[in-house]
Amino acid sequence: MITTFDNYDLSKRNTFAMKVKCSVFMEYTEANDIPFILSSIRKDVKSIHIGAGSNLLFTNDFPGVVLHSAIKGIEIVDETQNSLIVRAGSGETMDDLIRWTCDRNLWGLENLSGIPGEVGASAVQNVGAYGTEACDAIVTVHAFDRVTNEFISIDRKYCAYGYRDSIFKKPDSKDRYIINSVDYRLSPISAPRISYPALRDMFDKNIISELHPHDVRKAVITTRDSKLPAPDRVPSAGSFFKNPIVSQSLFEKICENENDVNIPHYMTESGYKIPAAWLIDRCGWKGHKEGNVAVWHLQPLVIVNPESKASPSEVINLEKKIIESVYERFGVNLHPEVEHI
Ligand code: EPU
Repeated sequence: MITTFDNYDLSKRNTFAMKVKCSVFMEYTEANDIPFILSSIRKDVKSIHIGAGSNLLFTNDFPGVVLHSAIKGIEIVDETQNSLIVRAGSGETMDDLIRWTCDRNLWGLENLSGIPGEVGASAVQNVGAYGTEACDAIVTVHAFDRVTNEFISIDRKYCAYGYRDSIFKKPDSKDRYIINSVDYRLSPISAPRISYPALRDMFDKNIISELHPHDVRKAVITTRDSKLPAPDRVPSAGSFFKNPIVSQSLFEKICENENDVNIPHYMTESGYKIPAAWLIDRCGWKGHKEGNVAVWHLQPLVIVNPESKASPSEVINLEKKIIESVYERFGVNLHPEVEHI
């Protein structure tokens, strides 16, 4: 079924609660609706596809068509002794899927508990938290290809997954694929991943082998709640910036300039990853308020719109100031994680 709205208010369709509109909003419940919808959009009209809008900043009204999948359904499509494949519709809420898998004692997605967003968008963004990324469990992405006009199944190895990145975000294939469902490989065999310090400290070492996925899910949600704004009460788009990766020489220079304080960092193949939260915190932004926007007082990586009154330009001004101050102090370029539309 396809539902169409004209001159549509998007404020409830983006978790940042930006009061913007689009010319047309189209929501569909079946994959088979997609070819019809696409053929009904004139070639000169812009269109974008959104999920729950949890990682978006609409910088203005959108003069075109906004598409949204309401394709539901979670089912087991294949089963072996050690693992099974669960297929979820792109319009399912990611956290509903995770609760479903934990209810069935299946391991693999529990560390992503509490992440706002829907299944389709989480496969685009490769959401991640507490040592797990969506791509760790994804095996196949089912999509409609707008170039060849056919439904295809994309094996994980062709999805080019990286840190908050995938083929679905690359400039030459962005907007090419409309995801209708995602297959995840999950396991009934106990596999808690609790090496992330905040999680590790919550469990007694002796009981790790007895944990249920719901135990880890609860611990993840408790940790998230202690740092991140509650998505249903404080509008935001989660982490606003990506954690930057810097060269060894820049890292050493920062250590020297900061009087060798213990700079948190992780080694990656391409260099030293420093938490953007630390850099922003060090520049004194934590809890900073400016008009209708603020830097979250418990996690400075998050820009919030506490009273749902902020305009996109207020967010962008604050974003620019944070980027400039981090660059001035550390010589590090921050890049937004949040997609600007
Ligand atoms: N830190 C500070 N000050 C603070 C908070 C953090 O200096 O007020 C420093 C600390 O050194 C801390 C480090 O930043 O150890 C990392 O903080 P945290 O563990 O909270 O994680 P993060 O790197 O800031 C990432 C993801 C989050 C995800 C968490 C947990 C990105 C951009 N963000 O944040 O994802 O929940 O790890 O795994 O990678 C999101 O994508 O929307 C999101 C919330």
